[in-house]
Amino acid sequence: MARVLSGIQPTGDIHLGNYLGAVRGWVEDQHTQDSYFCVVDLHAITVPRDPAELRAKTLELTLLLVAAGLDPEVCTLFVQSHVHQHAELSWILECVASMGELRRMTQFKEKSSDAEESARVGLFTYPVLQAADILLYDAERVPVGEDQRQHLELCRDIALRFNHRYGDTFVVPDATLPKVGARIMDLQRPTAKMSKSADSPQGTVLVLDEPAVIERKLKRAVTDTATEVTFDPDKKPGVANLLQILAAATGRQPADVAEGYSQYGPLKADTAAAVVELLRPVRERYAELASDPEAVRSTLRQGAEKAEAVASGTLARARTAIGLLSRS
Ligand code: TRP
Repeated sequence: MARVLSGIQPTGDIHLGNYLGAVRGWVEDQHTQDSYFCVVDLHAITVPRDPAELRAKTLELTLLLVAAGLDPEVCTLFVQSHVHQHAELSWILECVASMGELRRMTQFKEKSSDAEESARVGLFTYPVLQAADILLYDAERVPVGEDQRQHLELCRDIALRFNHRYGDTFVVPDATLPKVGARIMDLQRPTAKMSKSADSPQGTVLVLDEPAVIERKLKRAVTDTATEVTFDPDKKPGVANLLQILAAATGRQPADVAEGYSQYGPLKADTAAAVVELLRPVRERYAELASDPEAVRSTLRQGAEKAEAVASGTLARARTAIGLLSRS
């Protein structure tokens, strides 16, 4: 079985785009691949966060991932900071990565929004920590979205350079992005991806939204003034998004779905109904899990132990390769 690792930040609430675009794929992957999923709290603190909220969100996200179908008996689900090897390998890799290659990372440029002087150093070195996440587990595949491609390339470059300079130590992950799920757009601004940080709450369907809320958001989804239902993401992004959502929720193709409609009203109603049914079991399971958070914390402890068993071996290899004297 191929080893797979992915990470997700405990910031914001998980929405339909995360679910259809990533999480649902992980749930499927876990049975055919040796899967590691990591809630990346150390990445979350690269920008200021309220401490109590970060802690709460970390547990919440874990509950949600389990509710969505990640089975801790099948995959390894853990919190990044529970496995100290991540921070440790990250330091070693910082001593292999160059200023120039980090400066080229477009996400840093965007996130520091040109206020580079006051950006935290961790925001700059963020991709190196991500490389450590991946390399610690000898991951061959990293299922992430297009926006992470550059970080993945950097991870490969660092691994290749390390192996070249210090001897074969790391598995170089595959840079080809696996086919990820549907790309879901904001309901109010269908030319932008549905996003955690979007300042358009009405355009984002949260996985834990109540059915009535989901129905309202879909009913108010922006379309265009024509009425014809065709799948044309360039000319009719709003309608295409609804078709995309309905198709993804029902396992069909958007263009096929379009053939069944001649008006927007019924399309919106059916999309809402499909999304409500898609998310219902997740919301119900979440409520059950949330009533006993201690159970999930114990799951996380086991996950961290399983992860650490792998990570400590890889870190030991890297330490030896680069010339750190062992304690014993
Ligand atoms: N940077 C990723 C994101 O923002 C999250 C992440 C952290 C990650 N570590 C990872 C993804 C390791 C894949 C593998 O989406």
